[in-house]
Amino acid sequence: MSKAYDLFKSVKIRYKPIFASSKKTQIKISCSSNEPVKLFNSYLESDSKYIFVTDDSIIKLDYLEPIRNYFTDSVKKTQGKTEYTLFVKDRHALIVIPAGEEYKTIDTVLAIVKSALEISLSRKDTFVAIGGGVITDLTAFASSIFKRGTQVEFISTTLLGMCDAAIGGKTGCDFDDFKNIAGTFYPARKLYIFTGFLNSLSESEFRSGLAEVIKTSLLFDEKLFELLKNDRKKILSHNSETLFAIVSRCVKAKSRIVQKDLTEKNQRMLLNFGHTFGHALESRAGLGKLSHGECVAWGISRALTLCDKLNLCSTKYKDDVCALLKDYGFTVSTVHPAFNDAEKILETMKNDKKNDSDKIRLILQNALCENIILEIPDDKILTALKD
Ligand SMILES: NC(=O)c1ccc[n+]([C@@H]2O[C@H](COP(=O)([O-])OP(=O)(O)OC[C@H]3O[C@@H](n4cnc5c(N)ncnc54)[C@H](O)[C@@H]3O)[C@@H](O)[C@H]2O)c1
Repeated sequence: MSKAYDLFKSVKIRYKPIFASSKKTQIKISCSSNEPVKLFNSYLESDSKYIFVTDDSIIKLDYLEPIRNYFTDSVKKTQGKTEYTLFVKDRHALIVIPAGEEYKTIDTVLAIVKSALEISLSRKDTFVAIGGGVITDLTAFASSIFKRGTQVEFISTTLLGMCDAAIGGKTGCDFDDFKNIAGTFYPARKLYIFTGFLNSLSESEFRSGLAEVIKTSLLFDEKLFELLKNDRKKILSHNSETLFAIVSRCVKAKSRIVQKDLTEKNQRMLLNFGHTFGHALESRAGLGKLSHGECVAWGISRALTLCDKLNLCSTKYKDDVCALLKDYGFTVSTVHPAFNDAEKILETMKNDKKNDSDKIRLILQNALCENIILEIPDDKILTALKD
């Protein structure tokens, strides 16, 4: 057969990596109480078009007064499967969605898309998420799919958001009982962190964020570990200088990791330390029963107990970390009071996304900031789950 009739010609197209949002994220951290108001006023007075997304708890916070005042006489509509409210005034819009993980759905993403359509948002215009991880994940997801990608900026308002969720470009929503099962990688162009927002955060949300701060210190930052040990009283009383210091250190640590491995091919996996045990407890106890932070903290205690039993780390290191977790009020007992069936925890751990084979892949440690990823047989894992 002559070449002209060859039906199996192969053609390759090579693509440059696509990051329609932004090639870099500019992060500003401030503990000054004037900064949020200044920023909100500068958005509202700007000639550019902004669509603000927040929830019905955050909109009531003092810091959001400029936004509330601006939209006060504006058109209001409540519609769709998610009971959201859209406010439109001049070129800007505000969407207020109900607070909570149960609204982290594809319907909410579509409500944001629909609102953007209603105000004829163009690709040059910007979504601004004001909130914790739920709001930033949802808004960035909507921004990444609206007209195949618009601009997105974040004002993070929770400890977990500031130290973790708002950094590194993972977006998404939950679906059919699966957490974050739909989503994209789409980093925000700007991230503003005003630690003053932490003063109104509930104690349980604050502690949930603290578990991730402790995790970050164990993985990457010895000085942060010392700070957590020595300044516990200041941290728990929300001392502004101390919170500024811990948030700044976490931002730096996470930024370094996602810069090296945005799409979680290797090093970013380390951030799952404590999460394989933790997620299993979270879902076995019944989603929403225990805070994410409580489960991660318990997961860290189980991972290090396993390291100790496998002679990967010293007993002293494991004991030091468990004592710190306990000092911050987390449960470190072998069996968590919320769920006591070790075999069922193990079964759930097998469904973890990180596993390539039938063995469970875990993030473990030889010592502080000495991290390893290993596949561990089931019988060994059970030794950290049973007395
Ligand atoms: N994208 C990522 O890389 C990443 C990483 C970790 C977690 N996440 C996601 O983050 C979400 C959890 O985020 P979260 O812990 O920030 O919780 P959240 O966003 O659900 O906020 C928790 C609660 O606190 C309220 N709130 C927020 N800021 C407040 C403030 N300053 N004062 C008073 N109340 C305030 C909210 O209204 C909400 O009711 C999960 O959906 C998780 O999947 C994403």
